Amino acid sequence: MPIYATEQGWILETRQTGYALGLNNAGRLVHRYWGVRLPYSEDYPVAADPGPWASFNAPAQRALDEYPAYAGASYVDPCLKATFADGVRDVVLRLDAVEQDDDPQRELHIRLRDTYYPLFVTLHYRVHADYDLIERWVTITNAGATPVSLERALSAQWHLPRGEDYRLTHVNGRWLDEMHLRREPLVQGIKVLESRRLTTSHHHNPWFAIDRGSAAEDAGEVWFGVLAWSGNWRLSTEVTEFASTRVNIGINDWDFAWRLDAQQSFTTPSSYAGYTTEGFGAASRRLHDFTRDLVVPHPAEPRKVLYNSWEATAFRVDAQSQLALAQRAAELGVELFVMDDGWFHGRATDNAGLGDWWPDAQKFPDGLAPLIKGVNELGMDFGLWVEPEMVNPDSDLYRAHPDWVISFPTRERTEMRNQLILNFARSAVQDYIIAQLDRLLSENKITFIKWDMNRNVSEPGWLDAEGDARELWVRYVQGLYLVWDTLRARHPAVIWQSCSGGGGRADLGILRRADQIWVSDNTEATARLAIQDGFSHIFPPSTMEAWVTDAARERVPLQFRFHVSMCGVLGIGAHILRWNERESAEAKRLIAQYKEIRPIVQFGDLYRLRSPQLHPFSAVQYVSKDRAEGVLFAFRTLIPDPVELPLLYLRGLDPTARYTVTGFESPRSGYAWMHAGLQVSLNNFQSTLLRMRRINQ
Ligand code: GLA
Repeated sequence: MPIYATEQGWILETRQTGYALGLNNAGRLVHRYWGVRLPYSEDYPVAADPGPWASFNAPAQRALDEYPAYAGASYVDPCLKATFADGVRDVVLRLDAVEQDDDPQRELHIRLRDTYYPLFVTLHYRVHADYDLIERWVTITNAGATPVSLERALSAQWHLPRGEDYRLTHVNGRWLDEMHLRREPLVQGIKVLESRRLTTSHHHNPWFAIDRGSAAEDAGEVWFGVLAWSGNWRLSTEVTEFASTRVNIGINDWDFAWRLDAQQSFTTPSSYAGYTTEGFGAASRRLHDFTRDLVVPHPAEPRKVLYNSWEATAFRVDAQSQLALAQRAAELGVELFVMDDGWFHGRATDNAGLGDWWPDAQKFPDGLAPLIKGVNELGMDFGLWVEPEMVNPDSDLYRAHPDWVISFPTRERTEMRNQLILNFARSAVQDYIIAQLDRLLSENKITFIKWDMNRNVSEPGWLDAEGDARELWVRYVQGLYLVWDTLRARHPAVIWQSCSGGGGRADLGILRRADQIWVSDNTEATARLAIQDGFSHIFPPSTMEAWVTDAARERVPLQFRFHVSMCGVLGIGAHILRWNERESAEAKRLIAQYKEIRPIVQFGDLYRLRSPQLHPFSAVQYVSKDRAEGVLFAFRTLIPDPVELPLLYLRGLDPTARYTVTGFESPRSGYAWMHAGLQVSLNNFQSTLLRMRRINQ
């Protein structure tokens, strides 16, 4: 049974992990355990009551509160901070009730109540047993008659076993250079990662992996987690003076305020976290499986090979130029043709047009229908780029509604890429965008939408806001989700891609709406290797859209560029009309090969054999769930010759079964491929794709 109660409290179990919490003698709800699943309920540690110690270290500071609120003599980084109408800024939470629901074995809802005020905080837990993940979120309800001001309301605090020798792994970067893996020791104090940009950001991602300093890809304890939220977020790790190590995760409290009126509730986004003894690789695979099966809107659908026009034609799109590209794309084996930016009213450059989501009459005098028909006749689906949250001052929409943008009345509106941000917290904005996109999708046979967001926030004002204008940070994201969800409900077959100047909006919140993510605007294949490696720590390859383009074509061979993109959802973004016959033939062969291995890449298990972030010779392997087939990609960038490349040790095979591997004459056992390894030889900027197949005996 995944969840059960004992005298000591509650135990949540997944296939391999256990998590326990309970009330201590002082009546505090405290964390008891998170780690490997234990055989008996008595094995789980009891809820400790540290008792008084010294005047500088009251119990509030030393207890492992499951959801610490700022109250009493506690100086730990809290999850909740609130001010009551009478000015009291101290929330003392004690158990009120355990709420049962329809699925008591999978869900636990512990309701806490302030000891004086009618403020309720319900901690929600959902066990995803097969994925070894626990989901947590919180609902805060004001059952009183006066408003409560929330100043911080995080989703969860995740406690690690008491100890202070932990190491944090996270990703950072910037536009064109996302997803660098960083590892650093955690020392006493607080380390904060966050976004203040209104969206998830290219710079950090709400994901953590913590180990004891020695975990590797294939071994070692790792505690890991994410936040499913596409707005400002905050992730902090704290090591206290008593060697208690915790992770706080949730909506960023920076410039945050929420007026919780009488009888109103506030619900946080979910955080998902897990534990494994099998290293960083297993941690990723848990997240991959979960995201692929239970998060994205179209779990089982193979992702199509797409062509995207952006790097070929930029804003210079019209039916003729796109059909010429489409013709060639179809010949190569592309399945989905996506017209990027430039197609809508007044859009000749990035100076104008955003907000006016109808076809430009000069470029498309007969609308999009002739182009879509042509694309469909070539046997491909049609997709389109939009950037719904944005507006150019030079647009009909802005001229009609200058008050719809995020801004302060006394400040200049900072334009970035000549654009401003529509305030998606406003219902009029939501209605307008829903109507525009709904019409586009209803009138045209569009099966794929690339939803872009090409700038971050500035002057975060909400003109004529009814409540506290700082609610913008959350209400904007709620509005974004509402618009997206409404459109999804009306057009359920459409596949959406989340893009924000590349990988600026990649998180499990957006993946509930979008099946694919545009990982980076950097399409240079050798740089991309590292970006994709970082991405793979969090997100499955079925969400990782990767195009082959002409970037660095003089140095990086076409096959290498293809192999890099074949590690995720293959797309083409090159100017394919400029490819010569040899290049086109090679592309055709590789696209056909991708279709063969697609089920393994998109739906198998991913193993990182050698990281391109660390090594100029790198490799990644995919194995089908039944372990019958696998694919290995190996890449060499620049290493001075002469060099002997190290052996590659395959992973994930059935040890006792025998497998053939392309290029190796005799079959060997899975055990041998995994432990004796194999040698590949590559020159600089060469890559290889090897397939492994189990021999049925
Ligand atoms: C962003 C995207 C690109 C492209 C352009 C279009 O930069 O990341 O892929 O769509 O916008 O303006």
